Amino acid sequence: TWTASNVVEDLVGAIREQVGDAHVLCALSGGVDSSVAAALVQKAVGDQLTCVFVDHGLLRAGEAEQVEQEFVAATGVDLVVVDAREQFLTALAGVSDPEEKRKIIGREFIRVFEQAARDVVGSADAEGHPVEFLVQGTLYPDVVESGGGTGAANIKSHHNVGGLPEDLQFKLVEPLRTLFKDEVRQVGLELGVPEGIVWRQPFPGPGLGIRIVGDVTAERLEILRAADQIAREELTAAGLDRDIWQCPVVLLADVRSVGVQGDGRTYGHPIVLRPVSSEDAMTADWTRLPYDVLARISGRITNEVREVNRVVLDVTSKPPGTIEWE
Ligand code: XMP
Repeated sequence: TWTASNVVEDLVGAIREQVGDAHVLCALSGGVDSSVAAALVQKAVGDQLTCVFVDHGLLRAGEAEQVEQEFVAATGVDLVVVDAREQFLTALAGVSDPEEKRKIIGREFIRVFEQAARDVVGSADAEGHPVEFLVQGTLYPDVVESGGGTGAANIKSHHNVGGLPEDLQFKLVEPLRTLFKDEVRQVGLELGVPEGIVWRQPFPGPGLGIRIVGDVTAERLEILRAADQIAREELTAAGLDRDIWQCPVVLLADVRSVGVQGDGRTYGHPIVLRPVSSEDAMTADWTRLPYDVLARISGRITNEVREVNRVVLDVTSKPPGTIEWE
């Protein structure tokens, strides 16, 4: 019978067998898959694993802390945090084209990760346990999909860690490749991965960088982070987290509209709420959120985030709209 504890036991055994006494590297994103994969490998080979977390500054409120503090406390993982926030902001300065942003974020990510990887490889070599393996959070549907080759991934250039340089060659450890998402979550809970990570909804690799329509600046990120935090708090308070697939919150930074607050005219930015229901993100419908929840989110955002004077709801299915705006 399938139980999370049986699966953990089997996978831990398989990882030990594969890895031996070599060193293992993992790029931690804060998402469910890389976190559970890392927790499994940590359980199997302990401090032979080093995780690298690139803080690109495009995460939502509290997410970096969740990885740096809660995840480390819960799993005992050896974590290297690279603060690359300035580097990403500089690389993104003045860029508003969505594909250009995605390419830049993907490229900078590889650069930062590569450098961190070289450092880890260097010190592991010095200790006589060369880094031979890289952990990937590949799931069963990814295995099937890449075999099937639908080409759908080419609609937007999705970024994940791939494309490492030739002279950094690793064998892959893919402990989740027989599992579906719900099974990964159960395995994560079994391993004590924090619930906030286990139940995290999908979040794109390029993060908030592709949820600002316009160029990305530190100020705009602050505005979006504040609005997003409010939306997430209210959805959670209403008990809706597991009913929706995800709810991107988008800042229309290049759009302004007139509003009134107190007895003053404002000229602020709109925030878009994009709640969607989906099975696999290939198609999606807009979620009919209760009006009172929408009213609370709108009221709080326009009250608490000074630069935002309008909240709008995206009522487009996919297709024709994609889930993300960029
Ligand atoms: P779209 O916008 O294409 O999104 O309908 C489908 C799903 O994929 C997520 N997404 C990404 N995930 N890297 C990721 O890891 C990316 O570059 C990326 N772009 C979109 C999106 O959040 C949705 O769940």
